[in-house]
This record gives sequence, structure tokens and C-alpha cells, in this order.
Amino acid sequence: MWSPLVPVFLLILTLAGSDLLEVEAGAPLKILGLFPHPGVSHFHFFHPIMRGLAEAGHEVSVVSHFPDKHPAIRYKDYPLTGTDKLTNSVDLKFFEKRTFYGHFMEFFLLHEWGKQACNSTLRSEALQQILKRRPGYFDVIIMEQFNTDCMMGVAHQLQAPVIGLSSCVMMPWHYERMGAPLIPSHVPALFMAQSQDMDFGGRLANWFSTHALNWMYKLISVPAADALVQYKFGHDLPSVGEMVKNTSVFFVNQHYSLSGPKPMPPNVIELGGIHIQKSKPLPADLQRLLDNAEEGVILISWGSMIRANSLSASKRDGIVRAVARLKQQVIWKWENETLPNQPPNMHIMKWLPQRDILCHPNVKVFMSHGGLMGTSEAAYCGVPVVATPMYGDQFVNTAALVQRGMGTILNFEDIGENTVMRALKKALDKKYYDAAKLVSHSYNHRPQQALQTALWWVEHVAHTGGAPLLKPSAVHLSRFVYYSLDCYAILAVTLGTIIASWVWLIRRCCGSAATGKTKRD
Ligand SMILES: *[C@@H]1O[C@H](CO)[C@@H](O)[C@H](O)[C@H]1NC(C)=O
Ligand SMILES: *[C@@H]1O[C@H](CO)[C@@H](O)[C@H](O)[C@H]1NC(C)=O
Ligand SMILES: *[C@@H]1O[C@H](CO)[C@@H](O)[C@H](O)[C@H]1NC(C)=O
Repeated sequence: MWSPLVPVFLLILTLAGSDLLEVEAGAPLKILGLFPHPGVSHFHFFHPIMRGLAEAGHEVSVVSHFPDKHPAIRYKDYPLTGTDKLTNSVDLKFFEKRTFYGHFMEFFLLHEWGKQACNSTLRSEALQQILKRRPGYFDVIIMEQFNTDCMMGVAHQLQAPVIGLSSCVMMPWHYERMGAPLIPSHVPALFMAQSQDMDFGGRLANWFSTHALNWMYKLISVPAADALVQYKFGHDLPSVGEMVKNTSVFFVNQHYSLSGPKPMPPNVIELGGIHIQKSKPLPADLQRLLDNAEEGVILISWGSMIRANSLSASKRDGIVRAVARLKQQVIWKWENETLPNQPPNMHIMKWLPQRDILCHPNVKVFMSHGGLMGTSEAAYCGVPVVATPMYGDQFVNTAALVQRGMGTILNFEDIGENTVMRALKKALDKKYYDAAKLVSHSYNHRPQQALQTALWWVEHVAHTGGAPLLKPSAVHLSRFVYYSLDCYAILAVTLGTIIASWVWLIRRCCGSAATGKTKRD
């Protein structure tokens, strides 16, 4: 009787549904992305967000070194040109010797890169195009916050709320701007090879590095950016160190299931794994290799920035000899046509779909440099890792893998037949497999997918004109006050005064009693 009505009813429901969606989405926003750093692995974190925004109907302008080859409609690139992109550019010979002050050297390297990126971006044609827009044209500006805060000068000109992005775990100088506490007792600095569990030596080193790097950033990198920004926009501009306190929300490429829970105000949003796409079909030969590997597969890939063929001959031979002793099939991302003494179970490839290989159930171990993209993919797919960290955040990522029980470390200088063999045997143990699956479960089960979270926050920041209620006033407190050191100081002075006056009183009366006694004698 009612059946003829059902289609009509459904139609009305569908219409109402689509209406609702449009109301929810509101007017399209004008969004600007500023990404001056030429490292492609960083851009893998930014791109899905910018693309996702365009696909959600917003108008997106992106200043970067990496134009989208198949841009979505409403995604407009403003390419930066003329700087070397940092792909396959790191020579492994650089890491043959590590020194204890290595991370301070890295700071200066980052500082130089930041200055160069700032200088060339401020002078770029792409940015001149963007600066033709009137102030207030953009509803929100999304920018990388890494080794320079130079782009805050641009945001200041354009008068729009800012969302900061970090493609690695937070740098020591990222906490204060968001009103977050710096807690070196259990939050490892990015440059340290530490996890959330540190022994006393580790904590002391971490305390020193965290504070030293934070101060170095303030005293060296901020003035360098100020000089370039003020040269460009005029000397009455506030310091970028002040402007950056205006950051409304900070998106960070980490997730507690891997890097450990940290005390953060609600303006810091964890989006770890956002770059991980839906699976794509593998090339047929690769699919066959993976499906047929009865003893499993080991994947070796040292990322996009490190050329595997710059490995020294002895290390390369060590790996090759170890692989020849294994039952597993081994896939190695190797940039040369040939590999000397290549054993039959070793397959070399110049490029490989890392994420899709890792999630194949036959993949047993991932040998990696501990880069965050690969580490996140291992966490996502639940694959144990043998990590060989070389620079930057790779040490802290590796320490997190080890702390979570899903990774083991193989130092670069120790690479040889026996060490590789031992590390792989260890990672093939069931204990590592179980730990990896546990991490994978938490990594993948969130109240909302990372991309949805990012879109929600971008829209929220735009609609509220910078989410002013989300900004802790702690941002403007000096750290002396933030950590209540003023109160400790008063307490110390008061206690000190009381103790001193007691000592004085006791000395005086006992002293006089004693002198009185001597006199009577
Ligand atoms: C910025 O770039 C210009 C031109 O390439 C160069 O002359 C200038 O020295 C650079 N400034 C800094 C601080 O590197
Ligand atoms: C902070 O951002 C607002 C716009 O969101 C802007 O009007 C203000 O000038 C900014 N302050 C600084 C110090 O950049
Ligand atoms: C890599 O290839 C180049 C030339 O294509 C060759 O000169 C070099 O020796 C190769 N290196 C290794 C380690 O095979």
C-alpha cells in the first residue's frame, strides 16, 4: 500500500541531505599555503591538507617548490623556482662519523637553510603575485613552521589568521608560541636519540639541549628572519618572534600511539599519518613477488633524501652477504642499475610504492632510516622496523619505535654482515610483531580521520577569525612566570629570611648565655 511512496520519500530525504551538506560547508574559504622549505618529505604532510581543502570546495593557493601534477579544481599553484630541491641529495659519507655536538651543527645547517628559503621566497615572483591581494582577502593562512618564522611577515601583510604546520615532532621552539609547557624530563627534543623514557644522563642531556636550542633559535634564527622580513616590508614591523605568538592552531605530524602522549593545550592538533593514502593496486610483478614469498619479505628503503649507492663498499657488501643468508625475499630501494654480487633473493628497485608494499601481509620487517613518513607507514601497517637513523628527527623517531617495542636500532657505523643479520633476526621475533600490531590498532582507530580533523580546524579558525578563545594567555607570559618561578623565588626568600632570623636569634641568645656563663666563671 505504501510502497509507491517509498521512492518519493527517499528522494525527499536525499534532497534534504544534500541541502544540509551545503549549509554545513558554508561559503568557500580563501586559503593560502606558504611552504618555503625545499624538502619534499615535508611537503608530503602539507599536500594532503591543501588538496583536501580544495576538494572540500575551498579556494586554495599554494606557494611551494612542489606544484601538484594533477591539481584538483580550485587548487592553484604558485611555484617557487631556482632552489635545489632536497631529494636524493644526502651523501651517506657525511654520516660515517657522528660527534656528540652533532645536533648543534645540525641546528646551524637548519638555520642556514631557513635563511636561504626565507630570502629566496621573499624575492620570488610567486610571492609577488600573492602580495597583490588586499589585506583580509585570505580567510586563513597555512604555513610551515620549521627552521624560520619568516612567513609570519607575509601573514602580517595579508592580515589573516595563521595555522602553523610541523612535518616532524615539535621543535624546542614550538612550545612557547602555543602556550605549551616544555618538559624535558619526559618530552625528548627532536634532535635527541631519546624516547619518553630517559635515564638521568639522558634527561640531563635533553634538558640542556632543549633549552639551549630554544635560546639559540631566539637569539640567532629570529633576528636573521627579522632582518630579511624588515628589509622587505619595512622597519616598523614587529619581530617575527612576536608575530608567531599569533598562531591560532598548530598541526603536528605525530601521534601519541608512536611518539608518546604529551601535555598539550587544545590548539595543538596531532595529525600523524595524514599523508597515508588509500591503498593502490601494486604493479603485477611486485604483487606476484609479495604473494609468492612464503617465508616473507623484508623491505629496505632509506627514504627520498639519501642515495643508497653512496654507501661504502664494505657496508654494501655486508648487507648483501647478510641477505644471501636469509630465507626471506628482500626488496631494496637502490638507485643504480646494478648491485655487485646481487643474491637471487634480493630485488633492487629505483622507486617503489612503499606504503602499499608495507601493508602487504607478507612483509615481515622494514629496514628504514627512521624518517617520519616511513615510520608512520610502519605504524599504520603494523610492521616491525630495523632503523638506522642518520640525521634530524630520525633519532627521536627511532627511539620511539624502540620504546614501543616495535623497532630495533642498527647504527650506521656498525653496518656489516653479522650486525645486519642479528638486527633482522631480532625484528623477526613474534614479540616485535605483536607490539607493531598494537601500535597499528591505536594509530588507525581515532574518533575522526586525520584529514577530517584538519579540515574541521581550518574551517573553525576561519569562521571564528583566528579562534581567539583557543589561545592561552600563557603565550604572553614570560617563562619565568609561566613556570611559577616567581612564586618559588618568593617562597625561597621568605623561608630563607625565617631561617636566617632564627639562626640569628639562636646565636644571639645562646651566644649571650654562653658569654654570661664565662663571665660568671
Ligand atoms: C639574499 O639574496 C640576495 C640575492 O640572491 C643576496 O644578494 C643577499 O646577500 C641574500 N641575503 C642574505 C641575508 O642571504
Ligand atoms: C595577529 O593577527 C591579527 C589577525 O588575525 C592581526 O590583526 C594582528 O595584527 C596580528 N598581530 C601581530 C603581532 O602580528
Ligand atoms: C652506480 O652507477 C654508476 C654509473 O651508472 C657507477 O659509476 C657506480 O660505480 C655505481 N655504483 C655502485 C655502488 O654500483
